[in-house]
Amino acid sequence: MTEYEPIPGPPGLPILGNIGDIDPANPMLSFSRLTDTYGPIWKFNVRGDRVVIASQALMREVADESRFKKIVAAALGQVRNGTHDGLFTAYGPEEKNWGIAHRVLLPALGPLAIRNMFNEMHDIASQLVMKWARQGSDTRIHVTNDFTRLTLDTLALCAMDYRFNSYYSEQMHPFVEAMADFLKVSGDRARRDGITQLFYRTETAQYWENIELMRKTSESVITKRKQNPTEKKDLLNAMLNGVDAKTGEKMSESSIIDNMITFLIAGHETTSGLLSFVFYFLLKNPQAYKKAQDEVDQVIGKGAITVDHLTKIPYINAVLREALRLQPTAPSIGLQAKEDSVLGGKYEVKAGVPILCLLAKLHRDPVVWGEDAEEFRPERMLDEEFERRNKEYPDNWKPFGSGMRGCIGRPFAWQEALLVVAMLLQNFNFTLDDPAYQLHIKQTLTIKPDEFYMRASLRDHMS
Ligand code: HEM
Repeated sequence: MTEYEPIPGPPGLPILGNIGDIDPANPMLSFSRLTDTYGPIWKFNVRGDRVVIASQALMREVADESRFKKIVAAALGQVRNGTHDGLFTAYGPEEKNWGIAHRVLLPALGPLAIRNMFNEMHDIASQLVMKWARQGSDTRIHVTNDFTRLTLDTLALCAMDYRFNSYYSEQMHPFVEAMADFLKVSGDRARRDGITQLFYRTETAQYWENIELMRKTSESVITKRKQNPTEKKDLLNAMLNGVDAKTGEKMSESSIIDNMITFLIAGHETTSGLLSFVFYFLLKNPQAYKKAQDEVDQVIGKGAITVDHLTKIPYINAVLREALRLQPTAPSIGLQAKEDSVLGGKYEVKAGVPILCLLAKLHRDPVVWGEDAEEFRPERMLDEEFERRNKEYPDNWKPFGSGMRGCIGRPFAWQEALLVVAMLLQNFNFTLDDPAYQLHIKQTLTIKPDEFYMRASLRDHMS
């Protein structure tokens, strides 16, 4: 019989397990510290065992889709109350609707289709430029708030030709309010046991009302489109008209609703967090900032940005990759072994036990990234070095997840982020509102810089 070694981990208490070791406001920070103590594989117990992994060698193992698959647990399990077997919260290909939606939407979110969304992305990005130009450098910018408005409006416009118009009112659109509350409560519910949850009756009623509001809003968008068909090549038309080549079926109306909500949930905070971290890192690294702005000036100059420019700004491309390396805005992915398995040659992991892949730690694995793993150095992410490293150490950079359950919105997010960073650097000079700002992370389903403010002044050539 094989002798396994026990997986290390904090000792914990009877019944309560390791609840006391994990800060509910920022679990990622606790996981990161515990990784420093226990190494790249460790386990904890909060209503059941969970294994944490945090190195490229272990990520390489769990990326094997014949042995491991995504797990829908914790907060994601609660989000499933609103989005069912939509792409993000489906258990996997065993749910038929996941397969149909995946095959119909893959081309609709592919690089070619995304190019056609450039004008809409540009429209919303211009609204942000106008807002910051109008308010001038005397106003401090709440960076994550303004980027969240941008990413929500962009998704709604590109996905279903719907305008939230978030820049035109202080109050967010009711759908957006409902979604934000739904996501927050999903996280809270995941931390409670069944008995405690019974004491949150008002919150629970509001939670289901929020789900209802999101679904009804989506339904009315669908009805409107059915009554006024267009030739537009947006996601809504792809979902309404696309036929799955494998089953010959179309997506059902409830699957379309699940996925409309899914896009907004999966795509807005992740991308707005990325943009916020990009500006945090650029402002803290003046040399990188200058290189990025020089690139914009040389490649794009003062004229209008076109979709073709976006393939010619390799440094900014590398800045995005490096920001997601250090601060992956979807901070972890959850997997499980399909059958009892062994990790690292000596640790037994039972089938179905949640395995949490800690992306920020994976992305700082010293074996892969060397001595300066903690530093922001976009040069290491330029194509040649990026590809060389991926060959030598596969699965070393996973901000968009893994395998067939990896992010379907990646080309969308990338085009949007490149465009917005280029446009903003072209138009403004930025400074930190507080030069001594120290990064604090706010964690929900995603991570973003907390209380991060900057100022924008129009560049001379733009005024
Ligand atoms: C899945 C990250 C933008 C839609 C994922 C996953 C990650 C991720 C890590 C895997 C989740 C898991 O394994 O549980 C990101 C990041 C983004 C981003 C970092 C931006 C920088 C977007 C956008 C959209 C989107 C813009 C929509 C247009 C989705 C969907 C899934 C997903 C639908 C589920 C795919 C499936 O399982 O079939 N994303 N995402 N994401 N993402 Fe993104």
